[in-house]
Amino acid sequence: MTESVQSFNNDFSRVFSEIRQDFKGYLQYIGGLGYGGVALSEESLRILNDWGKEAMAETLDMIRKDLGTCRRCKLHKGRKHIVFGAGNPRANLVLVGEAPGYEEDLKGQPFVGQAGQLLTRILRAIGLTREDVYICNIIKCRPPGNRNPEADEISTCIPFLRRQLRAIKPRLICALGTIAAQTLLGTNTPISRLRGHFHTYEGIHLLPTYHPAFLLRNPSKKADVWKDMQKLQEAYEKA
Ligand code: URA
Ligand code: URA
Repeated sequence: MTESVQSFNNDFSRVFSEIRQDFKGYLQYIGGLGYGGVALSEESLRILNDWGKEAMAETLDMIRKDLGTCRRCKLHKGRKHIVFGAGNPRANLVLVGEAPGYEEDLKGQPFVGQAGQLLTRILRAIGLTREDVYICNIIKCRPPGNRNPEADEISTCIPFLRRQLRAIKPRLICALGTIAAQTLLGTNTPISRLRGHFHTYEGIHLLPTYHPAFLLRNPSKKADVWKDMQKLQEAYEKA
């Protein structure tokens, strides 16, 4: 990209976010800057509009920066690291767990303990690596003693996950366990009834399944998760 095109792009992104409410105003503005004589068909208007939206879209880096050294809820007191999420920022599949555990809190990475190792094997069984997908949690800081997240902690933290999902725009979400499935779907229906069926989260297909930590305690449920993973793989290959 030449410097002038790059510089036009930079100007465009900045200008667009300043006047995003008024596309006509933008056209007048660039007219005033001397970018005259541009024939704008419906099609080019649409392309410019999409381009503008992309220029305005939040990136994961912007969201991470906004989170900062978060003290928005009481969980910051006991945590060692915030666990933001990891993997491919353009993943077609995002896996959402509950909250960091002991190992995750130490390392600042999601699903790196025993349950995480099982999750890695489950992914491999459907032909995926951790680098193919994005992995994150409903809650970004470890609850003391791994207790369940409390309602105020979820409501404080969830806007960041929602923004992450809007930034990644995956085709599929897999919700791991009760907390992830019920929170994202806004329901109290038990995981045993939610799992195995596709639901919708902001227009994205969402499949709940059991949490890998639950599988470690209840190995007989692996058969159910295997069925769910075959559904997920089929949908992934079509996505
Ligand atoms: N359990 C979770 O829900 N998330 C993690 O990151 C680790 C264990
Ligand atoms: N309870 C949970 O929290 N998760 C499961 O996957 C199953 C039961």
